[in-house]
Amino acid sequence: MRSLLFLLALGFAAAEDGSAAWLRYAPVPGASNYRSLPSAIVALNSSTSSPVFVASQELQKGVKGILGKQLSLANGTNKASSSIIVGTADAYKEAYGNFDEADELEDDGYFLSTKGKNVMIIGQNPRGALYGAFEYLSRLGQGKFSPVSYVSNPHAPIRWVNEWNNMDGSIERGYAGLSFFFRNGLVVENVTRAAEYARILASLGINGIIINNVNANATLLSTRNIDGIGRIADAMRPYGVQVGISLNFASPQTFGGLSTFDPLNPAVDAWWANITDQIYKRVPDMAGYLVKANSEGQPGPLTYNRTLADGANMFARAAKPHRGVVMFRAFVYDNHINESNWKNDRANAAVEFFKDLDGKFDENVVVQIKFGPIDFQVREPPSPLFSTLRNTSTAVELQVQPEYLGQNCHLVYLAPQWKEILEFDMRADNKGSKVKDIISGERFKRPLGGSAGVVNVGTNATWLGHHLSMSNLYAYGQLAWDPSQEPDEILQDWIRLTFGFDRHVMNTIVDMSMKSWPAYENYSGNLGIQTLTDILYTHFGPNPATQDGNGWGQWTRADGFSVGMDRTAKNGTGNAGQYAPAIAQMFENIDTTPDNLLLWFHHVNYTHPLKSGKTVIQHFYDAHYEGAATAQTFVPMWEALKGKIDDQRFNEVLFRQVFQAGHSLVWRDAISRFYHNKSGIADRHNRVDNYRYRIEAEKMTLDGYKTYAVSPFHTASGSMAIITTSNNSVGTATTTIPFSSGTYNVAVNYFDLIGGKSKYELSINNRTIGTWSGDLEDKLGHAPSIYLDGHSATRITFKDIKVNKGDTLKIVGTANGIEPAPVDYVSFLPHGIID
Ligand SMILES: *[C@@H]1O[C@H](CO)[C@@H](O)[C@H](O)[C@H]1NC(C)=O
Ligand SMILES: *[C@@H]1O[C@H](CO)[C@@H](O)[C@H](O)[C@H]1NC(C)=O
Ligand SMILES: *[C@@H]1O[C@H](CO)[C@@H](O)[C@H](O)[C@H]1NC(C)=O
Ligand SMILES: *[C@@H]1O[C@H](CO)[C@@H](O)[C@H](O)[C@H]1NC(C)=O
Ligand SMILES: *[C@@H]1O[C@H](CO)[C@@H](O)[C@H](O)[C@H]1NC(C)=O
Ligand SMILES: *[C@@H]1O[C@H](CO)[C@@H](O)[C@H](O)[C@H]1NC(C)=O
Ligand SMILES: *[C@@H]1O[C@H](CO)[C@@H](O)[C@H](O)[C@H]1NC(C)=O
Ligand SMILES: *[C@@H]1O[C@H](CO)[C@@H](O)[C@H](O)[C@H]1NC(C)=O
Ligand SMILES: *[C@@H]1O[C@H](CO)[C@@H](O)[C@H](O)[C@H]1NC(C)=O
Ligand SMILES: *[C@@H]1O[C@H](CO)[C@@H](O)[C@H](O)[C@H]1NC(C)=O
Ligand SMILES: *[C@@H]1O[C@H](CO)[C@@H](O)[C@H](O)[C@H]1NC(C)=O
Ligand SMILES: *[C@@H]1O[C@H](CO)[C@@H](O)[C@H](O)[C@H]1NC(C)=O
Repeated sequence: MRSLLFLLALGFAAAEDGSAAWLRYAPVPGASNYRSLPSAIVALNSSTSSPVFVASQELQKGVKGILGKQLSLANGTNKASSSIIVGTADAYKEAYGNFDEADELEDDGYFLSTKGKNVMIIGQNPRGALYGAFEYLSRLGQGKFSPVSYVSNPHAPIRWVNEWNNMDGSIERGYAGLSFFFRNGLVVENVTRAAEYARILASLGINGIIINNVNANATLLSTRNIDGIGRIADAMRPYGVQVGISLNFASPQTFGGLSTFDPLNPAVDAWWANITDQIYKRVPDMAGYLVKANSEGQPGPLTYNRTLADGANMFARAAKPHRGVVMFRAFVYDNHINESNWKNDRANAAVEFFKDLDGKFDENVVVQIKFGPIDFQVREPPSPLFSTLRNTSTAVELQVQPEYLGQNCHLVYLAPQWKEILEFDMRADNKGSKVKDIISGERFKRPLGGSAGVVNVGTNATWLGHHLSMSNLYAYGQLAWDPSQEPDEILQDWIRLTFGFDRHVMNTIVDMSMKSWPAYENYSGNLGIQTLTDILYTHFGPNPATQDGNGWGQWTRADGFSVGMDRTAKNGTGNAGQYAPAIAQMFENIDTTPDNLLLWFHHVNYTHPLKSGKTVIQHFYDAHYEGAATAQTFVPMWEALKGKIDDQRFNEVLFRQVFQAGHSLVWRDAISRFYHNKSGIADRHNRVDNYRYRIEAEKMTLDGYKTYAVSPFHTASGSMAIITTSNNSVGTATTTIPFSSGTYNVAVNYFDLIGGKSKYELSINNRTIGTWSGDLEDKLGHAPSIYLDGHSATRITFKDIKVNKGDTLKIVGTANGIEPAPVDYVSFLPHGIID
């Protein structure tokens, strides 16, 4: 009876909100075959705040969930005939004597053995034991029951996350609700969710977290907030996660009341030492500081003609007595550079600022380098700074929450991108110099290093907004621990733990996820041109014109004939020359530059032939069509999983897949029309600016609606849309359907702005086909727009609608707030056509 109930439980897909992430401890098939499970758990530390004790609790909970067995908790001497023993190596040796693998353990590492009578989970330190317990549970949760015995040590000491939380409770570039660390300028009282997040981080071996935005607010240093940081640290400490904070460089002046924040002024030094002592008094194991200085308007040492090293070392001196680490961001650049100088290049900034400072940073400083030279674009080469700094510890900064890659409203599995960067061989001194071995400290024999992932989780139950995006957090942690792992295998583990064992579910999510980055690259920006989003506004939808003509330096230099950044040394910005000779030579030469970075390093004509034989412009067109077509396939692929995933997660993911499919068409059309317009070169397949299944709203008969020229023009079909003639009024657009009689999917493209929830009704011959409301701002979480543009443009589709030629199509839009019920076009799509 018990096993029957157990089997029934397996088939029952209960609603899940995603809050359990991959720690669901769901029952596994075949669990009854697992006979070698001990009956008790022995924790070699019974202090409830010890990660060892937490590990024992987690083991008890996990085994109960996965295998349906209640294990007893024992301590001290091992009374049961076999036990799961969890503890540090020292505690184990004291209780049971030495074990062979003890010598192989490094900081934070663990030994896991399920081969003997007991299960041994032995950490080099307490959190290592917790990591081992999570590993054991991950194996059980995936039905990996075969006996194992191995030591696992982390690849690098620094495995941190950064959370860009503002003290008012908002999150910069956060797309999943508000901060659970701050509200109204203060640390929140309730730190339960902070502890829940620490548990998720610990399950990945992440050992540090920066809780506030790099654009930091000095009021974090108030006595009350220091105590708040202490409460967060207390909540996270049992999980082995050390808390750190971002600092505002000008704090001694703006918060401390000094007349200066010059890093070489003794009074400033004393101020930082004092405040640091106060913080460490409350949080003795604080991880350290993160500093963004002299970047994007932030204050820094350059204000006083001091070097960035002078600035970093000021914090390093304060933190050193407490063994704190200072992460100093390399994201320093001038955002007012002049595009009319062909040789200006923001991508050069990091090396220019830091190269002469190599060897001048104190030992507890780590320079935190964004993976590429610009800013988390869909494709960048690795930053040349990785091979420039030999005498400085470094870490790679990755973005788990994809600011430029769809803001978790598009599925983009990022592990393949990160893997390419980590495995890239920088050829320093013409020797093997993979980025992963540079940041670990191994290549240049540095004491510190690792990775920082910008995650920006929020109060939303899903943590990141999109259930499927959690694979990115999982993969970030996995790669930080062991970058030799393969992205598709990481994904499979995550799927088993998150969605169970159905083959169809597994194959579908692997297939979609592995296609997702190439698809997004195809429809957002190819050949190394960067994500062609609106860099001056939301970083979400298309707006390629914003890349150029301003001082931000994310230029494409697109004109009527040619496109791309000339980063060669011979004629361009010299950026290629910042790499070690072997790599510099590859990027300098157009023939050896891979097509996917062609426009990153070279300025070429639109008619330039690629290695594929296509011209640049035709590749643009084809790639945008191909990428958007791939995004369409995600919808039916996901729909086929109905019943195999609980309804809540099924529906929430489907909603985003449908949105992505529609928005990928907005991207496709905007970018291909932009370059069509600029170059005047036709698409060989005659798709661009030739949409034969559409009826443009501006061509309909309007009553209470008026036409509106959309800006940028290429984000609306025909460059025009319709809006109601006044606020809160009703508009009607009617037309006669010119298409032959048949069954169509009818798609309406409209604009969903923040600041209003318009209502729409679509009817054919007065038969209502559908009604909807412009309320995506409540449902998606990406940076919103108050304009009709590429961010607000979206699509709703009504399937299998029977239509007769000559029928009357009618849209009734009711404006609301600042949203004038805007409509772009209606598509009548025969079976199999997407347009
Ligand atoms: C047990 O854990 C507590 C809390 O982390 C720690 O203070 C104590 O030193 C540990 N005991 C041993 C024997 O390691
Ligand atoms: C064993 O656990 C109990 C409570 O669970 C505790 O009171 C006792 O101190 C522990 N003994 C040792 C040796 O840790
Ligand atoms: C810093 O926080 C304080 C207190 O919440 C707030 O008044 C101030 O506006 C913030 N400063 C900035 C630059 O955000
Ligand atoms: C604290 O937060 C948790 C998780 O967010 C919530 O479940 C709980 O109800 C809150 N407690 C109080 C006292 O508000
Ligand atoms: C440190 O700062 C506190 C609070 O501002 C002040 O009371 C104390 O005197 C300072 N200590 C030193 C050594 O400057
Ligand atoms: C920094 O140096 C520049 C050029 O040498 C000088 O004009 C400026 O006054 C200096 N600024 C400070 C704050 O010392
Ligand atoms: C950029 O440089 C050009 C050429 O030197 C100059 O004419 C123009 O005024 C500069 N623009 C700005 C914003 O400084
Ligand atoms: C690193 O710094 C040390 C001392 O500061 C110096 O002797 C050495 O040459 C430097 N090494 C490199 C590779 O720059
Ligand atoms: C999570 O966010 C989505 C989109 O913003 C929203 O629809 C949903 O209600 C949120 N759920 C929770 C529990 O906050
Ligand atoms: C060399 O640079 C100039 C600008 O200084 C540019 O106009 C020209 O196109 C470049 N030549 C090549 C071959 O890229
Ligand atoms: C690029 O196009 C320009 C303008 O049409 C032309 O003068 C030039 O010869 C072309 N360059 C190459 C390398 O084809
Ligand atoms: C739709 O309804 C209106 C008002 O009742 C009527 O005038 C019109 O003829 C109807 N149109 C069609 C196509 O049935």
